[in-house]
Amino acid sequence: MEFSGRVVAVTGAARGIGRALAAAARARGATVVALDRDGAGAEAVAAELGGRAYAIDVGDPEAVAAALAGIEAGIGPIALYCSNAGILERDPDPELATSADPESWARSWSVNVMGHVH
Ligand SMILES: NC(=O)c1ccc[n+]([C@@H]2O[C@H](COP(=O)([O-])OP(=O)(O)OC[C@H]3O[C@@H](n4cnc5c(N)ncnc54)[C@H](O)[C@@H]3O)[C@@H](O)[C@H]2O)c1
Repeated sequence: MEFSGRVVAVTGAARGIGRALAAAARARGATVVALDRDGAGAEAVAAELGGRAYAIDVGDPEAVAAALAGIEAGIGPIALYCSNAGILERDPDPELATSADPESWARSWSVNVMGHVH
């Protein structure tokens, strides 16, 4: 893939794998957009990489749609969207997934499934 001059959006870019993905895209010449529910962390990564940041929860469809529309209108078409944001909810009993409470399941579904759909 040609990265130079193209827009790469990375969710969960404030740290970890997302931050590394953003840095790798920037090193190849892309304009990077860092999206994260940790707005300060996303801003810091964007500042370091000369990119832009959006504070969003990928589980919120309106927030994702607004961010994508803002990127496409203000920065350019997204060439690569790295849907990296995810959470790990630890089950009270690691041997029994059904030991997790409904709120934990709802958070996991919202981010780890619907976040990618959005
Ligand atoms: N690190 C591993 O060994 C490993 C293994 C398997 C899968 N993964 C997956 O890879 C991805 C990145 O892993 P990591 O280790 O860098 O994770 P991490 O926890 O270090 O970083 C995740 C980032 O995503 C952000 N985030 C979480 N929920 C969000 C939401 N709802 N909206 C927007 N941003 C959100 C966090 O603020 C954080 O900056 C995750 O989806 C994780 O589940 C990681």
